[in-house]
Amino acid sequence: MVNVVLVGSQWGDEGKGKLVDWLSSQADVIVRFQGGHNAGHTIVIDKDTYKLSLLPSGIVRPEKVCIIGNGVVVDLWKLEEEIESLKLKGIKINSENLKVADNASLILPFHKDLDSIREDSNKKNNIGTTRRGIGPAYEDKVGRRSLRAGDLRDPEMIKKRINLMALHHNPLRAHFGQSLIDEEKVYNDLLKISLKILPYICPVWRYLSDSIKNKKNILFEGAQGALLDIDYGTYPYVTSSNTLAGYASVGSGVGVHNLNYVLGITKAYTTRVGSGPFPTELFDKNFERLAQKGHEIGTVTGRPRRCGWFDSVLVRQITEISGINGLALTKLDVLDGFDEIKVCTKYKLEDRFLDYFPNSIDEQSKVEPVYESIKGWKGSVRGVRSWKDLPKGAQDYVKFLEHLVGINADLVTTSPEREDTILIRSPFS
Ligand code: GDP
Ligand code: IMO
Ligand code: MG
Repeated sequence: MVNVVLVGSQWGDEGKGKLVDWLSSQADVIVRFQGGHNAGHTIVIDKDTYKLSLLPSGIVRPEKVCIIGNGVVVDLWKLEEEIESLKLKGIKINSENLKVADNASLILPFHKDLDSIREDSNKKNNIGTTRRGIGPAYEDKVGRRSLRAGDLRDPEMIKKRINLMALHHNPLRAHFGQSLIDEEKVYNDLLKISLKILPYICPVWRYLSDSIKNKKNILFEGAQGALLDIDYGTYPYVTSSNTLAGYASVGSGVGVHNLNYVLGITKAYTTRVGSGPFPTELFDKNFERLAQKGHEIGTVTGRPRRCGWFDSVLVRQITEISGINGLALTKLDVLDGFDEIKVCTKYKLEDRFLDYFPNSIDEQSKVEPVYESIKGWKGSVRGVRSWKDLPKGAQDYVKFLEHLVGINADLVTTSPEREDTILIRSPFS
């Protein structure tokens, strides 16, 4: 039995969905443990594309059990929408293969309102959130006001919690010139949607504990990326959850000793959606080439992603903090045809060189990347499925990144398709 935690090691969109789908052939249970429907995980199987936001990416495989852990913030309406749209594509979803933690906090319509109100009121310096209500929902969770999934069984509790949250939200809404929360409507809408979602709600920690006793393989599916982590990311330009591997334990109710291997999903270059520092960001024709070849358009919001060269300082730092054991290097095919590929190996900050990413947002914005160049390769790696079939130049690039980051690549991906994946060492072995 091996339990693997799969996390993004940059600013999200590293290709986690594809790899969760690929690896879940070897897993029995797939667990989301943080974030919400701000995530957009893409899976391509033959000609079919699935874009998942809340449901674990293992859901497309019929024999797997998928779990939404307590660390996730759940928008019940979006969950229902996603379940229905997958059912239309022939995916079986029922209370046997989908379970939602009874202690997961819910995202309600006024969380989404507040997210947008704040973004609009500070257009110049906004975070560039997905406007899904993620931040406000986590605020209510730590503020001890949340309505949690299991509370849906108790109409009195629903009323009480809505009222508690309204007491907090209404003065904010009034300040921004918005109408007060219609508590009756929120309550009635919740009663209606709860009829559809209640069958999935249970104490998932018990299911996971039994799975571990029965020697099942569990795959924990991280959302976002380490640099969006609320503690270790580019604060305040981050999401509102912990995206590092350690949170898999807290966000699902599984003891830390059961997390056996951490796989860091890492794009062969770098992208970011939303505001905030990005030392290796490009604005020239290389940006256009990466954006175009990599189809770098946000899965959730449709916004163009910012693009830049690979930053080994960031990935090396995140590897330490998140405890990453091996890399899955994705989108190598996007670098086909470049004569020269640059990699950031250290930063310059005024008259000093740094081998780490500083903590202050001011310094993070000021560091200048120092690059080493490596020659590109001839031919294409697109669709290559074995290491020996990669051109020597592409192998050299992977080895160069391994050397700089300090750990090996277990997997390399060469197209969005499920099977276009090079296995070097299985994280489940
Ligand atoms: P996630 O949020 O980490 O799951 O990543 P997204 O799905 O948001 O974005 C990754 C995008 O890259 C998706 O459109 C994937 O289909 C695509 N993708 C994944 N792996 C590869 C690859 O190796 N090559 C190419 N060209 N595209 C890939
Ligand atoms: P996946 O799982 C990329 C970014 C948003 C914004 C910041 C805060 O697909 O990798 P939020 O709505 O979470 O409060 O927004 O975080 N962001 C992501 N960027 N991929 C994601 O998820 C993201 N989820 C949030 O763009 O900058
Ligand atoms: Mg994504």
